[in-house]
Amino acid sequence: MGSCRTIPETIFWEINRKNGFCSGIMILFYVLHNDNFSEVEMAYKKINRNTYYIEGATNIGVYAFKNKNCLLIDSGFGRSVAHSVDTLITENGLHPKYIFNTHCHVDHCGGNVWFKEKYPGIEVFSSQEEKIFIENPAYLYYISNAAYPSRKLKVRKADVVNFTVDEGIEKINDMKFSFIKTPGHSEGDLIIITPDRVAFMGDALFSTHTLEKHALTYLLKVDDRLRSLEKIKLIDADYFVISHAPEIVLKSDLSDLVELNIQSIYTMVDEIKEICNQPVSREDILQNILLLHDMECDYKGYLVNLCSVSALLNYMLDEKILDVSVEDGKLYYY
Ligand SMILES: [Fe+2]
Repeated sequence: MGSCRTIPETIFWEINRKNGFCSGIMILFYVLHNDNFSEVEMAYKKINRNTYYIEGATNIGVYAFKNKNCLLIDSGFGRSVAHSVDTLITENGLHPKYIFNTHCHVDHCGGNVWFKEKYPGIEVFSSQEEKIFIENPAYLYYISNAAYPSRKLKVRKADVVNFTVDEGIEKINDMKFSFIKTPGHSEGDLIIITPDRVAFMGDALFSTHTLEKHALTYLLKVDDRLRSLEKIKLIDADYFVISHAPEIVLKSDLSDLVELNIQSIYTMVDEIKEICNQPVSREDILQNILLLHDMECDYKGYLVNLCSVSALLNYMLDEKILDVSVEDGKLYYY
């Protein structure tokens, strides 16, 4: 799910070529999206001291320990991404020993199973809340389908989370990492800050590009998201890695980006309020938004967007911006 970008299939070709800016080989990914191939380059890049990231459709953090073991922050969309991540880190002399998942969405934990198969001793960390979903992938579909999903939707393979972490400081391989809880996009989103003052945000913050491209971003609980965004402004770190953005955000730019994220939610609240000037169903609200923003989506994408609309509607009910009633067998918001 990620930033609500549905990536139905990922095909990759490995190209052994050196790049001046990047360390190691660069791998090109071609992401099939709405029948169009777009090129997504995966490259291993240094951020600060022992903290690196692999730039791709989902940025993956790498913390290199002195003994050459490394911690991966998220594992990518699936097997092919995991394979490429592994190629890049082993090319750079590192051994994957730990994975921390910022949250349970498939573009963040979909590579876990591949890494577990190749490195049986690898240890996976997440929050307690996300562990439930990582280990029971069908549960995410219970949210979007209100039932067990049809076979049209492929449920990914279940994984095992070995250790759970909570907000605060935790040691991994004798190094201290900070964790900050930022629920709202998922139930137990955690930001991790490395000893090098690099914060990996997962989907707790979206980039300007994502907000410009996607009027409706994936939300689970809007009031939590708003509180989490205020909390992000206070994070004491120097570099901020957003999962779906090509550039690293510096501390000086953080507040403005957080404000943009907050405003994007209120803009959508206003838009829904306008649509609900007359009583209207949840599906009709989504149709209005999709048509207004010229958004195309497939079956899975539609259900994901419907989750976001539901989250916004529930927030608006709680805030008494809207009311709801059932008339003639139909649920209306007004
Ligand atoms: Fe996500």
